[in-house]
Amino acid sequence: MSSSISNRHFLLRRLHSLLGVVPVGAFLAFHLWENSQSRFGAAHFNEEVVGALAGLNYLPFIEIGLIALPLAFHAFYGLAIIRDGRAEPMRYGYLRNWLYWMQRLSGIGLVVFILLHVGMTRIAGLLDPAIHADLFGHMRSALSNSLVFDLYLIGLWLAVAHFANGLATAAISWGLTTSAAAQARFGWFCLGLGLLLGVIGTHGLLGYLSAPVGTGA
Ligand code: HEM
Repeated sequence: MSSSISNRHFLLRRLHSLLGVVPVGAFLAFHLWENSQSRFGAAHFNEEVVGALAGLNYLPFIEIGLIALPLAFHAFYGLAIIRDGRAEPMRYGYLRNWLYWMQRLSGIGLVVFILLHVGMTRIAGLLDPAIHADLFGHMRSALSNSLVFDLYLIGLWLAVAHFANGLATAAISWGLTTSAAAQARFGWFCLGLGLLLGVIGTHGLLGYLSAPVGTGA
């Protein structure tokens, strides 16, 4: 009995890890790239980016089945992992220990940020068709408020730091990087990927404020 409970825990933990990379992490990378198109202006963004995605077949299945549910599972199970937190990481070196706490704090921060972000974009767009029709203008006016801009900047960098470190620890969990040298090499790769995604995301946030409003570039 106890072994079936720990097997279930093992499988759920593996599922949590897998979903964090695919589809949640993959969606994060796509989402940041998609938003970096803001620099081409309102017409391009509303018609070519938002409009093209809104026209996809099976969109509700993609949004709920491939994005919302995997993210919700990862977040709920992540909160359970934090609640049941064990002390053994304290035995690790300074960097590992710091990254362990960063992963947990960023996870909690992301729950708050993602709820706010989805509320003020996807849910607001469902409730008010004018917002959905001009998401560029909606984001531009929201981000013109420096408090909202700072909140997005923090949420963005929390997400990329959490994903980059999560990718490195997932490779360990799945036995893909076993030696210390392989973990260090992949760690550098993940750091580079995180910085790249952070720069793409920051560029996207700034694009909303600096791009032309009326026409595409
Ligand atoms: C942008 C959204 C997110 C992405 C891309 C993401 C991705 C990841 C990845 C790839 C891992 C590594 C899994 C492993 O080590 O095997 C991870 C771990 C983790 N995630 Fe997330 N995650 C996101 C949001 C969240 C949220 C909202 C929470 C809520 C608390 C959370 C909590 C955790 C926790 C606690 C871990 C560490 C698990 C452990 O050390 O065993 N994540 N995440």
